[in-house]
Amino acid sequence: MDHFFYRDGELFAEDVPVTELAKQYGTPCYVYSRATLERHYTAYTKAMGEHPHLICYAVKANSNLAVLNVLAKLGAGFDIVSVGELERVLAAGGDPAKVVFSGVAKQEAEIARALEVGIHCFNVESEFELERIQKVAAQMDQQAAISLRINPDVDAKTHPYISTGLKENKFGISFDDAISVFQKAAQLPNLEILGVDCHIGSQLTEIDPFLDAMDRLLFLVDELAKLGIKLKHLDLGGGLGVRYQQEIPPEPDTYAKAVMEKIQGRNLTLVFEPGRSIAANAGILVTQVDMLKDNGHKHFAIVDAAMNDLIRPSLYNAWQDIIQVKPRTDGLQANFDIVGPVCETGDFLGKGRELNLKPGDLLAVRSAGAYGFVMSSNYNSRNRAAEVMVDKGQHHLIRARETFSQQIANEYLLPN
Ligand code: LLP
Repeated sequence: MDHFFYRDGELFAEDVPVTELAKQYGTPCYVYSRATLERHYTAYTKAMGEHPHLICYAVKANSNLAVLNVLAKLGAGFDIVSVGELERVLAAGGDPAKVVFSGVAKQEAEIARALEVGIHCFNVESEFELERIQKVAAQMDQQAAISLRINPDVDAKTHPYISTGLKENKFGISFDDAISVFQKAAQLPNLEILGVDCHIGSQLTEIDPFLDAMDRLLFLVDELAKLGIKLKHLDLGGGLGVRYQQEIPPEPDTYAKAVMEKIQGRNLTLVFEPGRSIAANAGILVTQVDMLKDNGHKHFAIVDAAMNDLIRPSLYNAWQDIIQVKPRTDGLQANFDIVGPVCETGDFLGKGRELNLKPGDLLAVRSAGAYGFVMSSNYNSRNRAAEVMVDKGQHHLIRARETFSQQIANEYLLPN
């Protein structure tokens, strides 16, 4: 559930009319709801109840400092994949002791910075990386807490681009090598083994693949215990899906309960790395209809947001709901392709949408809070959109719209 709804015939973000936001901040503009972010995060913590847990929000989903700060204030941990994300967490007041560091190839400088600030754990993805962390930790005379990311080879039944737990994917240590890599880690003097983790994919709409992966990890936990390697935590990654269209993904509550049932009687802290399920439905992308075009075959609504602002439809053929900020009946009723001004056929936000429109109307692309702004670019030399956070009746600019001079700030002409 989110806090974007119609009241008196127009769309509100919490207690603020979206038209007011568009007027003040311009379009295209990302609008986030603080109450929704908080609700989604606490759905996880409530579901875990008394069981020892750490909910590490996946920063990659939406890394705006204000978003991170809202979650940090609730006591969230963070899942990061780069030193840039680590610096963001720190700048937003996040607790480094609750940070897990994922990613297939962490650089030495990134490892050193993470050790310096005292992160919770590195999620290690290969033997090579294990040695690299050992080397940096030894140089710094520190102990590095690690978990091994295992590729459990289960089918997450999601889009191939966001499926990560199959043999053919680049992620993690293969299940067959897991025990020997753990044994190796146990021998490296500057490493402390904390746990085991996996992340099998994103936008999962069923629980079973998670539970299959968990079975495989628990098997490892038991085998390792026999060898004297005792794990303290089990990290199931992120991946819980959200409702974009007709999907009915399990609620965090249902998911967490199923996981806890399996883990009963074991002394294992549970770690989750949710991104999308916290941020996606906490954001919309507000855009204005610039012109309507009919080429005799198709109706197009050309809007001022484009694939550079929200690439999910173009990249994954993802479907996101597009709704009218002020629904009307006196415009042109048609089946529209909602397209941007970028020079690419693939530049669309949605296709075949039945709407009643006039130029100047405002539209909201729903479920845009995760993998929206963070994946935006300057393609076609377009400035990046503004980001705004609504908090009950108040609204705050949390990222100013980029200016042209900012866009070219790091570019230089040749001397002659
Ligand atoms: N942990 C790890 C190690 C990950 O790689 C990811 C996402 C997450 C956690 C968070 O997963 P989530 O809860 O958000 O599903 N750009 C794509 C999604 C890519 C996800 C990559 N990894 C999209 O727009 O659908």
